[in-house]
Amino acid sequence: MKKKRRIKKQVYFVLAFIVILIIGINAIIRHINYINSYEYKFEKIGYSESEVKTLLKLTDKQKDKILDRKYNANIVSFAKQKYFIFKNLDRYIAYRKDNKSEKYAKIVSLVNVNADYDWYDEEAIKDTDTSLKELMIVNKFYHLTENYTPDNLEDISTTFAYDDNSATKEVIEAFKKMWQSAKSDDMNLIVTSSYRDYASQEKLWDSYANKNGEEWADSFAARPGYSEHQTGLALDIVTYNSTMDNFDDSPEAKWLKENAYKYGFILRYPKGKEDLTGYDYEPWHYRYVGVDVAKQIHEEDITYEEYYAYYIENKGTK
Ligand code: DAL
Ligand code: ZN
Repeated sequence: MKKKRRIKKQVYFVLAFIVILIIGINAIIRHINYINSYEYKFEKIGYSESEVKTLLKLTDKQKDKILDRKYNANIVSFAKQKYFIFKNLDRYIAYRKDNKSEKYAKIVSLVNVNADYDWYDEEAIKDTDTSLKELMIVNKFYHLTENYTPDNLEDISTTFAYDDNSATKEVIEAFKKMWQSAKSDDMNLIVTSSYRDYASQEKLWDSYANKNGEEWADSFAARPGYSEHQTGLALDIVTYNSTMDNFDDSPEAKWLKENAYKYGFILRYPKGKEDLTGYDYEPWHYRYVGVDVAKQIHEEDITYEEYYAYYIENKGTK
């Protein structure tokens, strides 16, 4: 009987030992895992619990890059922004250094669209990717070659435009629909300028530059190769008896701002976004991007520069 009890005791002891061992090993594994976790590593550099939460949303490759740096609260502030692009991080930080009062969201937008460079800065200039078709970008950093001509240019009938206007087939079709819908709301839309080839843009810009200098010309006219009008996707729209200068006061301008996106057009150079687009406000200049993208741009209230940087160029690099 005594022997039996002793064996029983020994079994309990061994079982208890195994349980304690398992608990101990578990604790050690948990501790090793914690020490190897990004959470621990970020906290060790000095990031707070809430800052770590933001950083954990980055990819592992990006997290490793942050771990190579010293603690920097600005990194977290930038990473929190909706349109944050990781590869631009150093440029955001550099911009912030020289512009301490600028909001983080604004810095992200400015850098994303290359506005931390001077307009037409050779270092930032790239060729436009024309294979993107209606989503190609043309601005002060993306340009077309001298001989780029859109594939399917067609004349716009004088029902919809003043003489000698042309645009791509799909743009004309979309404009006709918009024109009809505007008409049923008692609005009269008319295209005053549309496709312009390299040579005519050159003539136009030169005439402005000769008149009042390059800086003045650059504020509202694109240099040759840098105009959206060369894509055949841009339309300058006004109404009868209005000039470009007073178009903004017309009901048609308001109607376009509220409805153009439904037909695939976006207001390309909005008021208050001059530092992102590089151009003065142009209430008449609409650009065709297709219905889905136009709707998204309208809803997010962003410029095409911002859309392109975040949703097209950044795609797959996040
Ligand atoms: N007015 C616009 C910016 C152009 O010249 O293309
Ligand atoms: Zn225009």
